[in-house]
Amino acid sequence: MTGKPAPMIAIDGPTASGKGTIAARVAGQLGWHLLDSGALYRLTALACLEQGIPADDAAGAARAAAALDVRFDAHGVSMAGRDVSADIRREEVGNLASQVAALAPVRAALLDRQRAFRRAPGLVADGRDMGTVVFPDADLKIFLVASAEARAQRRYKQLIEKGFSANLLTLLRDLEARDARDTQRANAPLAAAPDALVLDSSHLSIEQTVAQVMAWWQERASVPRA
Ligand code: DC
Repeated sequence: MTGKPAPMIAIDGPTASGKGTIAARVAGQLGWHLLDSGALYRLTALACLEQGIPADDAAGAARAAAALDVRFDAHGVSMAGRDVSADIRREEVGNLASQVAALAPVRAALLDRQRAFRRAPGLVADGRDMGTVVFPDADLKIFLVASAEARAQRRYKQLIEKGFSANLLTLLRDLEARDARDTQRANAPLAAAPDALVLDSSHLSIEQTVAQVMAWWQERASVPRA
């Protein structure tokens, strides 16, 4: 790559820690691009479901990942011209996403697609390995955490608001299982980058969390980049 890459903020953390919401708000405030990397794994999972590719078929899932015909816009995400914004949020799709995301060929197939989002004026990317693998030179790395109970509550509220049925205890168990899978997998496990700032949002509102990220960014941005 020639020249300095566009500035970027990487926000990683466990499922339902609020990364997506925080990343979208920060990107909105800065007027930057947004990458919801989890959506790419969810889209891969949805493609596998629809094409009958089993979760342990690494080559098949990687082919599906490489062939994704995706479009992100202000209204949501579409796959092959069909709006799948609601479909990819289904718990079944999220659980399968966590399984296909453990496959190295799938991660490799999605790497360049993710890096292509880094364009001027800047990028806010959220996921599990934004600061560790995909954008190790990110200007600011945040590791957003919240207790499993707080995250289960948030996801419950989110699902109910969207008109889905949900059970709090089942959600908590699913979250813990997904956390375990995401942190214990061999490929790009969920982990804070050594230079990430850890932000615990269990007792913070969305506004307070966004304000903290923005304050850290203002601090960072006031120091000239190397
Ligand atoms: O953030 P999310 O719940 O939409 O992510 C769905 C799944 O994708 C999650 O179980 C882990 C995986 N994922 C990943 O492995 N790496 C990322 N950068 C983002 C998501």
